[in-house]
Amino acid sequence: MCYTSRMATKRLFIAIAFPEEVRAYLTARIDALRQCASRGSFTRAENLHLTLVFLGDTDSMDDVKKVMEETDGTPLYLTLSRAGKFAHDRGDIYWVGVKENPALLSLQARLENSLLAAGFPIEERPYRPHITLGRGVKSENFNNKVSELSFLVTQYVLMESCNMNGRLVYNELRSRSLTRSEEK
Ligand code: 2AM
Repeated sequence: MCYTSRMATKRLFIAIAFPEEVRAYLTARIDALRQCASRGSFTRAENLHLTLVFLGDTDSMDDVKKVMEETDGTPLYLTLSRAGKFAHDRGDIYWVGVKENPALLSLQARLENSLLAAGFPIEERPYRPHITLGRGVKSENFNNKVSELSFLVTQYVLMESCNMNGRLVYNELRSRSLTRSEEK
């Protein structure tokens, strides 16, 4: 629960959470990055996720839940692959990606289109699926590689982001099972 002055407004995003072994692997990569960095803020293990759609501040959570209810998909096998960084003057964003996956892109596009149609002002940037390891990172010699690790995804989740005493905290508000047997 986040305590804000405007309780109805929540900072929301829709994401995929990871099984424990994937979380443990990514946490080890974050520890390795931290060791090689002179500065940066690093993702805490419990905050690791793959964002599908970022909604930002909204007081229309019920409309988001309705879109989720109406947006099914097939269970997905995701594979960690590719790693990289987005360069910034004040420190880079290090990330791990996933292997190209049509079912993931289909689910993401259907959610985004339905949320746009429902009036949410979503940024229409090309979707670049990534898992952030650290932000504002200065590191000369981190070898940002990733082992191929596959895992089954049977649901996606609605998350709330809040800042609690300077700490970024994510709370799961709702999950949606993926129940389709094949892409229609
Ligand atoms: P990031 O990891 O690259 O910062 C919660 O903030 C999640 O939504 C993060 O995974 C974040 O991606 C993602 N996100 C996407 N667009 C965003 C935006 N405009 N502002 C903040 N977070 C955003």
